[in-house]
This record gives sequence, structure tokens and C-alpha cells, in this order.
Amino acid sequence: MDQATTGDGRVAIVTGAAGTIGTAMCERFVRDGIRVVVADVTIEPARALAHRLDPSGGRALAVAVDVTDYARVESMVDGALAWAGRIDILVNNAGISEGHVPSWEMPLDAWRRTIDVDLTGVFHGCRAVLPSMLERGWGRIVNISSIAGKEGKNNPAAYAAAKAGVIGLTKSVAFEVAARGILVNAITPGSIWTPAWAALGDERREEVRSRHPIGRFGQAEEVAALVAWLSSEECSFSTGAVFDISGGRAGH
Ligand SMILES: NC(=O)c1ccc[n+]([C@@H]2O[C@H](COP(=O)([O-])OP(=O)(O)OC[C@H]3O[C@@H](n4cnc5c(N)ncnc54)[C@H](O)[C@@H]3O)[C@@H](O)[C@H]2O)c1
Repeated sequence: MDQATTGDGRVAIVTGAAGTIGTAMCERFVRDGIRVVVADVTIEPARALAHRLDPSGGRALAVAVDVTDYARVESMVDGALAWAGRIDILVNNAGISEGHVPSWEMPLDAWRRTIDVDLTGVFHGCRAVLPSMLERGWGRIVNISSIAGKEGKNNPAAYAAAKAGVIGLTKSVAFEVAARGILVNAITPGSIWTPAWAALGDERREEVRSRHPIGRFGQAEEVAALVAWLSSEECSFSTGAVFDISGGRAGH
């Protein structure tokens, strides 16, 4: 099948698109014939990625957004609608992990910033995009949580709390729009290979790797494949669900 037609003219927004997993998602969407809004707080890498995906600009648009700022999230959605006339898919992927210290030592601003980006940013995305999806009666939202949101351990409390919040938020929003053609799901990755993991010392990296029964880190492309399915027509009877992608690490 002609790749350009498989996406059926669909349009996706990916936040945190210039990061490791976001990049893989954008590449996958474009390969599947889906136009993509490459949204990130750091605009230069987002521009470079959009240009690499489609130098003509027809299939990829770079947009600067800070997901903690609702006005800018609204502008991102308005910009996407002006560019493509529709938004079918939103992947709330932007995330940070700060304050890698015990809770009693965590700087208060690290707590607030993590909750702002990792949880409130996801809410902002859902709030801003849903009116246009509701109008068209079709949509897919995929929220990137983490195994930290289910298990907490070995993660900063703010990150685990925010990612657990994403699961609750996903279930609530999914329930609200379930009968209106919009499916909202979360995924909980284990450790996915990024330059941050590469920068760890050998011993620590081996300790993280060994937490995964499959015996390796996940790859961003594997996450992108799951997100592609959750964003598709084929995903039709799952909403408010939490999809594990942790190499067997999750106990539930
Ligand atoms: N890599 C892993 O092992 C792993 C595991 C579980 C969950 N996750 C989640 O997957 C998502 C992507 O992670 P990654 O490993 O690709 O990280 P990454 O750091 O490579 O990418 C994150 C991206 O988010 C962007 N960003 C940060 N703050 C932002 C803001 N306020 N507004 C808009 N964009 C912002 C960054 O500029 C960056 O491009 C995150 O939500 C992360 O928590 C990652």
C-alpha cells in the first residue's frame, strides 16, 4: 500500500518530540503516512527533526511549546489546526525527571517542576485538544506514564507521583469521552535506551538492565510501535487502559 495513504490524512501532535522516544514516534508516524506536529520546549532540535522528516514541510511541522504553560499549549493546538485542519492523535510525551534524592531532601522546586511538566503538562494537552476531537467524533490520546507510576521504587518520588497521576488522569478523561469516539490510554515503559542511560557507569547500567526479565533495555522504536497501534483505528475497544512495555519488569 502507498505509505502516503495509509495514514488516511491523519495528523498527530507529539510533545517532547525532540527527545529520544519522541523522535522515534515522529519517525514512525511519518512512515505510516501520518502528518506530525513536532512539539518541544527546545525548538532547534524540533526544527531539525521536522526538516529531516520532510524538508518540504508538508508532513512535519516544528512548534515550540512549554507544556507547563496552558496558553502555549493552546497555541500549539491552534497552530496544528491552522496547518492541517484537524488533529487526530495527541501523544503527551514531554517529561523530565529531577530531584534524584530521598523525599526529605528533595528541593521543593524540583517537586513542583516535575509535577508541572509530567502531570499538569499532560492535563494541559488533553484539555486543549479535546474540543476539536469531540467536534469530529474521533481521536486517540496516548499519555506516556512510566513503570515508576506503578511501582515507585528506584525513582524520585516526584517523578513516580506524577507518572501515577498520569494513570489516574488517563482513566478519568477516558471515561468522560469513551462514548464519543475518543480513546485515551497510557503506557508504562520500563528503562528505554537513551543517551542518559549511556552516560551511567557500567555497574549502575548493568543494575538497571538486570531489572528487566527480557535482559535488556527497551528501544525507542519499540515504544513507538505500541504508540502507533494505540493511535490507530485498529485500537478500538481499549480505553482508560495502561499498557506495559517494560520487558517483563512490571509485576502488574
Ligand atoms: N527513557 C526511559 O527509560 C523512560 C522510561 C519511562 C518513561 N519515560 C518517559 O518517556 C517520555 C520521553 O522520555 P525520553 O527518554 O525520550 O526523554 P528525553 O529527555 O529524551 O525527551 C524528553 C523531551 O521532553 C522535552 N521537554 C521537557 N520539558 C518540556 C516542557 N516543559 N514542554 C515541552 N517539552 C518538554 C525535552 O526537551 C525533551 O526533548 C518522558 O515522559 C519520560 O518520562 C522514559
